[in-house]
Amino acid sequence: MAISKNISTLMKNSSWIRAMFEEGEKLKKKHGAENIYDFSLGNPITEPPEALKEELIRVASSDAKGMHRYMTNSGYDDVREEIAQYQSEITGLPFTKDHIVMTVGAAGGLNVVFKSILDPGDEVIVPCPFFVEFMFYIGNHNGVIKLVDTKDDFHLDIDKIKAAINKKTKAILINSPHNPTGVVYNEAELLELIALLQERNQKGQRIYIVVDEAYKKIIYNGTKLPILPNMYDDTVAVTCHSKDLGLAGERIGYIAMSPRIRNVRSLIDATIFANRILGFINAPAIMQRVVAKFQRSSVDIMEYQKKRDAIYNILVESGFEVVKPAGAFYIFPKSPIPDDIKFVKTMLQHHILTVPGVGFGKPGYFRIAYCVTMDVIEKSRPYFKEVGESLRNGQQ
Ligand SMILES: Cc1ncc(COP(=O)(O)O)c(C=O)c1O
Repeated sequence: MAISKNISTLMKNSSWIRAMFEEGEKLKKKHGAENIYDFSLGNPITEPPEALKEELIRVASSDAKGMHRYMTNSGYDDVREEIAQYQSEITGLPFTKDHIVMTVGAAGGLNVVFKSILDPGDEVIVPCPFFVEFMFYIGNHNGVIKLVDTKDDFHLDIDKIKAAINKKTKAILINSPHNPTGVVYNEAELLELIALLQERNQKGQRIYIVVDEAYKKIIYNGTKLPILPNMYDDTVAVTCHSKDLGLAGERIGYIAMSPRIRNVRSLIDATIFANRILGFINAPAIMQRVVAKFQRSSVDIMEYQKKRDAIYNILVESGFEVVKPAGAFYIFPKSPIPDDIKFVKTMLQHHILTVPGVGFGKPGYFRIAYCVTMDVIEKSRPYFKEVGESLRNGQQ
């Protein structure tokens, strides 16, 4: 075989999200894109802020020499300084440019972090359901993903996490606001988690909290997002602008390593080296310069909140059991029948594209990505009702 057995197996089981997206493309060709309600992919239709586009034009048309050359693997100094200042503002901690490494999106950032901290066989605890790419990001660096079920409301099950921690545990990966559930972990549950980790710390085992902040700014009704670096010293935050600034295709993000991490310099050096040897070399040059000034900006979050409310109401009135999301742009209702794949296929017949829960390690549920137009959400309303009613009447 021309490709490795390993990659061939991974590809076969790779992603329900992609599989549904591709299914949708076929249906769109057959019935016309306007007749397919595609909630499969977290690919926001929201455009970046106008001011950002203007800044992009300004930066791209600069005549300054050296704009397009290699740079230090961590990224431009002035960009990292701006970001460090922003991180200091939100955390109150003394971030400097040294604590920031610019990356190729959050995906690049997570790969760099795991490359830097994992030895073969080291375990990373991931609350489940989970964003399935995490499995690859950890596996890429010979780590072992340890999935731990969350509670019925998708909040952390501290007892289960306690039972999952062992000598091999190197990190816990926290994604909040969360894909696929939209849950935002609260301070109380994070403090309980931290108490567990502190116990281990006292016995000489360092466990990192790696926090994936891809949806950090997409948060509703004033929900408070606890500031993890203030709560736990060994916190590494991975951020991107794919979602909050609508720049998913531009591949820009960063790692912020808390100044309180013990021997933080060695972690910084490791991440810079990993950024290089993973072949990223550095994050995209123009985008670094552009996003530096937009740390305090985002796309219109109220638009997402309105969409969250609309889809939540549609689901509730159609008889679905669902937890109301506090952030991100996903909702994760219970499938009305235990077989979520069968259910998603039924939805397909009604031209609604969603992703089965099994694709997030949680069969019996399905994910809706509502980063689509309000029109798509509203037009899908009768179809959700139809499926809901027919299932209640036992017709499916
Ligand atoms: C939880 C989570 N982390 C990371 C990523 C990847 O982000 P990026 O496109 O910035 O690499 C995504 C993308 O959907 C995501 O949902």
